[in-house]
This record gives sequence, C-alpha cells and structure tokens, in this order.
Amino acid sequence: MKKWTRAFYQPVLPLGENGTRITGCASHIALSREAAGEGMVLLKNRDLLPLKKGARIALFGKGCVDYVKGGGGSGDVTVAYVRNLYEGLCEKEKEGKVSLFHQLPAFYRDEMKLQYEQGAVCGLTSEPAVPEALLKEAAAFADIAIICICRFSGEGWDRKASGQALRAEWEGMETKRADKIFERSDYYLSRAEEEMVSQVKSAFSNIIVVLNVGGMVDSSWFCDDKALPCVLLSWQGGMEGGLATADVLCGDVNPSGKLPDTFASCLEDYPSTEGFHRSGDYVEYTEDIYVGYRYFETIPGADKKVNYPFGFGLSYTDFAISFVEGSASDEAVSVRMKVTNTGARPGKEVVQLYYSAPDGLLLKPARQLAAFAKTGLLAPGESQEVTLSFATADMASYDDLGKAAKSAYLLEKGRYRFFAGNSIRQAIELPFAYEAATTRITRQLSAKLVPPALPHRLLGDGSLEELPVFERHEAPSPLPPLAIDTLEGLLPEVRPVPAKRICEVDEEKKGRIFLQDVFEGKAKLCDFLSQLDDGQLIDLLGGQPNTGVANTFGLGNLPEYGVPNITTADGPAGMRIQPQCGINATAWPCATLLAASFNPQLISRIGKACALELKENNLGIWLAPAVNIHRSPLCGRNFEYYSEDPLLAGKCGAALIRGVQSEHIGATAKHFACNNKETNRKDSDSRVSERALREIYLRPFEIIVKESAPYAIMSSYNLVNGVQTSESRELLTDILRDEWGFEGMVTTDWWTHGEHFREISAGNDLKMGSGYPERVKEALLAGAISRKELEISAERILKVIMEID
Ligand code: BGC
Repeated sequence: MKKWTRAFYQPVLPLGENGTRITGCASHIALSREAAGEGMVLLKNRDLLPLKKGARIALFGKGCVDYVKGGGGSGDVTVAYVRNLYEGLCEKEKEGKVSLFHQLPAFYRDEMKLQYEQGAVCGLTSEPAVPEALLKEAAAFADIAIICICRFSGEGWDRKASGQALRAEWEGMETKRADKIFERSDYYLSRAEEEMVSQVKSAFSNIIVVLNVGGMVDSSWFCDDKALPCVLLSWQGGMEGGLATADVLCGDVNPSGKLPDTFASCLEDYPSTEGFHRSGDYVEYTEDIYVGYRYFETIPGADKKVNYPFGFGLSYTDFAISFVEGSASDEAVSVRMKVTNTGARPGKEVVQLYYSAPDGLLLKPARQLAAFAKTGLLAPGESQEVTLSFATADMASYDDLGKAAKSAYLLEKGRYRFFAGNSIRQAIELPFAYEAATTRITRQLSAKLVPPALPHRLLGDGSLEELPVFERHEAPSPLPPLAIDTLEGLLPEVRPVPAKRICEVDEEKKGRIFLQDVFEGKAKLCDFLSQLDDGQLIDLLGGQPNTGVANTFGLGNLPEYGVPNITTADGPAGMRIQPQCGINATAWPCATLLAASFNPQLISRIGKACALELKENNLGIWLAPAVNIHRSPLCGRNFEYYSEDPLLAGKCGAALIRGVQSEHIGATAKHFACNNKETNRKDSDSRVSERALREIYLRPFEIIVKESAPYAIMSSYNLVNGVQTSESRELLTDILRDEWGFEGMVTTDWWTHGEHFREISAGNDLKMGSGYPERVKEALLAGAISRKELEISAERILKVIMEID
C-alpha cells in the first residue's frame, strides 16, 4: 500500500488473516487475558489457593459482578463486553473445577442494575447489604467465601484524604458520587463494605479476598487478620480481567506479579498525603526523592509503616534464588543469578537487583532498583540463569545545591553494595561491591527548573533541609491576555476549499514540492517549508479536525502539499474510539497491572497489537504510554501510570513504545511531567526540587527517550515550579532535546492553559486539540516569535508524519 493511503482515504482494509479484522480480535483478547494473569499479585495465601477441585464457593461483594476493567476518561476503551469474576468462575464451574452458589451474584446483579438505572457507573456503586437468609443459604452451600472489592477512578478527579475539608464547588460529579459512597476515602473500605466483610467473617472460616483496583488501597483490614488468610490483588484487568482472576484463583495460572508500589498501613503513612489537598493551586513535593519505597526503606522508623513492600508477590510454588557471578567496573555492573523452582508447580519468578549508594554529602535512599529480570515458566526442579546489568553511572545522584559539584550527577566516593532477590525486603546482599575511591562527576549539567517556592525538603536522615526561595520575574507578553475560557474545548477549524476546476488544481500543483517528494529523498524538507506561507506554517502547529473514527483530532492536514491528516487516539489501556462509531477494541489491563508483571517483553507485545488496531482503523498516533510516577495513592489517574519507581515506569513505557513503533504507528509518552494530581490540573503548580525532578519524575521519560525514541512526548497540564510545562523551554528544549537527544515532536495535552506562541518558542511543537493561529500570527507580527521558530516546530511534526505508514 502506498504511504499514507490510510490517512488520506480511510480505506476499509482489515489487517487480520484472510481479510478478517484484527481490532478486538480473539488473539488480542487472549493476549489481554494472558497479560492480566501475569500481573496479578498474590498478597497472602494460607492453604486456600489455588482452589482445590470441587471447591464450593459463595461470592460476596458487589465487585463480583460490578467488575472494573480499567479507569475512566481518556484512559477508557469501548469494548464488546467485559467479563467479571462471577463469569470467570462460571467458566471454571463448567470445566468441573468449582461449584458456585449462584443466588448471590444474581442478588448483586439486580442491585447493580437498579443503581446503574439511577445513574451510577460501574465501580462507583454502593455495597448492598446481603439479606441474612441469603447469607445463611450461602454458608450452608459453600465452604469458601470470596469477597470481591472494586474501585473506579478517572481523569480529572482525585481521591479525598480522610478528614479532608469539603471539595471545591466546581469539582465533578464523580467526586461527589465517590464522597457519598466512601465516608473516609475510597482508599479505605466504605462502612457498608466493612459490614459485609464482618457478615462474611461471621459465617465463613475460609475466606479469600480479591481486590479489583487500579492502584494502592488500604491493606490494613486484611494484612494481619487471620480470618482473611488469602488475598489476591487482581487489579483492573481489562475486558477479560474476571476470567484471568478465575484462572489465577483456580491455579490455571500461577501468579507471578510483584508490587510496583509500596502498600503502607494507612494513607497518612505516605508522606505525600499531608500536603496533597492543602491547596488547589500548588503541591509541595516536600518528600523530595523519598517517594514510595525510597521513603519507607530509608527514613528512620518508616519501615514499620509497610504492610506489603515494593516488589513483593507470592507464588503457588517456591523458588531458590542464588548468586552465580557479578562484576562492577567504572562502566557497568553485571550480575548473574540462578533461579530454581523448588516447589511443586510450574511458575515464573522476578529477580530484582537493588543498589545501596554511600550516603556521602547528598544522602541517598537505602535501596534503589537498578535492574530486574523475569524467568520463563519453570517446571518444578527446573533452573534458569538470568543476567542483570546496568551502567555504573546510573547510580549517580544529582547535586542541585552544590554540596560537592553544583548541577552535576555525582558518584560519591565509597562502597556501592548490591542486593538481589524477589522483593526489596527479600533481597540478599551480593558478595561484591563497587568501590569508588574518589567522588566522580558523571554528567555536568546546568541548573534547570529551579523551584522558587519550595521552602524545604526531606533528607535521608529524616530532617528537613531549607531550600532557597525567590521571586520569579516573567517577561511581559506582547499580546493582551487571553481569556482562559476561550481555550477550553475549542474545535479545530475545518478549512474551506474554494470551488475550482480540476485543470486549475493540476496547474497549481506544478512546481510544488510534496511531502512525498521529501520522504522519497527527491526534495529537502527546508525547501518544502519555504514554499509555505506563514498561515500554512502556523496551521501545521495546531490540531486538525477529526477524520474517520477519531475523536482526539489530527495533525498535518495540508492536502494541497500532500500532507496527510494523521489522526490520534487515546491511550493507554487500549485504542479509545467513541461508542457511537460502532467499533469495539481490545481493552488491556491497566498500566499498574502491566508494571506488576515486571515483563517488558509482554508489554511490547501489547504495544504492537494495539498499534495494529490503530492502523486498521486508519489512526496514526497513540496517546500512550502514560508514565507519571505514583507519588500518592490519592491521584485519580494512578491506574494509567505504572509505578512509584522511575526505572520500572521507564522500562515499561519504553517496552510499550518499541512494540507500538515497530508498526510505524507513533507512541506519545505522557504527561511530561509531574502531573501527579488531577484536581485543578491545568493550573496546579508542582513545586519540586531539581534533584527530585532528575532522579524521580523526569527519569522515566529519560529512559524512554534513550531506549525507545518515541515519535512524540506530551507535555502536561500542570505547571512545574511556576511555569506551564508546555511553555517551559528548560524542560522541552534544554533537558528533553539538548541533554537527552530527543528528536521527535512535543504536543501539548488537550487545551492547556499555555499561550500557543510561547509554547512553540519553548519547543512545544503542536497545540492540541486545536491551535490558536490568530494569536500566533499576532505574535509573529509583534516580533514575539520568528518564522524560523515556526519552521523548526513544523519540521519536527512533518518528520513524525513521515515515520508513519
Ligand atoms: C488527557 C490526555 C489525553 C487527551 C486526549 C486529556 O484530557 O490528559 O491524557 O490523551 O485528553 O484525549
């Protein structure tokens, strides 16, 4: 097929075998189910799991039918169906593995139907009280109770923290609904859920808990409770998540997921909770680099706050992990470990390699993840050796205050120790180390994104360090201010084509350079650009109307010069096409589950499959992966993000991108950066130190840029240290391009509150959903932006278009 045929003509050309469609096809859905099983984390297991053949089961909790496949908003996916846990266990009943007490799911189904009819959405429903008679019948029939708890969250709203004052007036419907259902916060069980759990405890001695959630939730209600001996964290597993959960419960799949986040005893144990909702306008990242396990494993006394540590997850078999060999030079660290399945069932294990850097002048986290590897499916008695390696320079810390060398990454002198095992707490010290005789600068940079208004930050010894506070002076805009509400939801202009005769059109084409000529090497991109007038150039820098089944707009769209309109689609749980288009896609498990799989190869396969779905539907750019850090359990969008650990998040994102782009579909790593709160997300300032930016929040993006060269990066809605990220030259040009070597294009998130011409100058090439051409023209006339700057951005956009099939 000729290049861009799909974008220009929107043909109906299926990509499957024998002319079948690949979108939402059986093999993609099977991959979704496989991935879901691979990322589930077994938190607790005493005797009951896997379910023995013939187990008689009663399902409690509306979650057994009210299954949440993933989160809401742009991360949602239109699907043909969603399978819940009840359906999963029905499948197993048909196979003769278990017997179910069907009256309970029937009761919940009727209750949910009523609530949906009254406007509730899946997962944002109230737990109905089980009638005593039904409980008795269930107890008479079943020997095991499974309690299923589900949670739903979405874009644009966060969880409340216990005791938090009332929400802002303007907050959305979902927040109000959640506040009504969950008295404290949906991090915790609601009172009705607590009552249901006690009711089940009073009637059953064998209880399994299943958590259908998108991220960190309270685990204290089951952690030490002997009456709740088994807990499976099944996450939000995509469209067949209920089936995959049943696979794991019945032992058809042996769980091999590991926690990508630390599960602490309560919400207040996370240092980010305290200030999360303090202001609508800003968030102070006072905990600095001590996010997740870096906090819990380092700060004195914090280790006691952990219920389930990072990297933890049980299996139905046992593994022995032993050291084979290791070496550390100034360039690289490499370790070979041997994993043996010493139990009775086939299973996979994840080996995690952590390092501990000497405290030195900067103070360091006690442990940091350096590499990980997952084995294949090992039969009982079988062994596999895995090699884990990383660059020694990756252990450097960023000295933002100049304690040893200002704005440099330093490998401070001392002993770097290594630990390997199957969780951060089950990692044994390895019999070799890296000795740095002197402090070495691995990268000398310059100060960027300095926080003017973060008064202090946490240090590794638990003390607070003062940071310089100063006033930032903004250059005055040459244009009168723009009313923010004119930016919201603006649709791109559909440009008229004046009536012309075919022969006139043919005449016009003569002597023109077409983008195809540039692609084929017959003309230069600079010559292509110089034939465009300012207006045409500016049009290239804004979103274009939807074509076909798209609803997130396109880019390019200058057909008179052969530039196709390449359309975009969300991300990241699948290709999001609006229901009215009549197309059902594959909904993959949520990103947190994928990270828990610790299996980048699997994530790459998902990326490739999803890219094919986009291609078949004539879409060109997928708005995924989303790689923001799980800074706080309160962030409403955690389900779209991978982990509290930047290495894990970066590796997962890079794997997804490699898969997507292997099909010449563009990936878009988002939201760059520090979009860790949804409330007032377009105007909330993330106040964060340079060091935390470098070591935590920018790091996944850096890994992604260096390992997978994404076609696009999406800047975030929020501000970082007082500057809109889309207007931040330091972020988008100095760091992203000049330091890391990013060669793709940067797009804004949809309808940011940044000023279009300033965004272009900063290196934000494309404004989505729509550009503001008139403003950019005014800025050009006023000399606030140059034609050269417009050409640079247009060139980057066109280069991305040329990468797409
Ligand atoms: C979200 C992005 C998404 C975009 C397009 C925004 O509201 O923040 O993640 O890609 O919409 O739907």
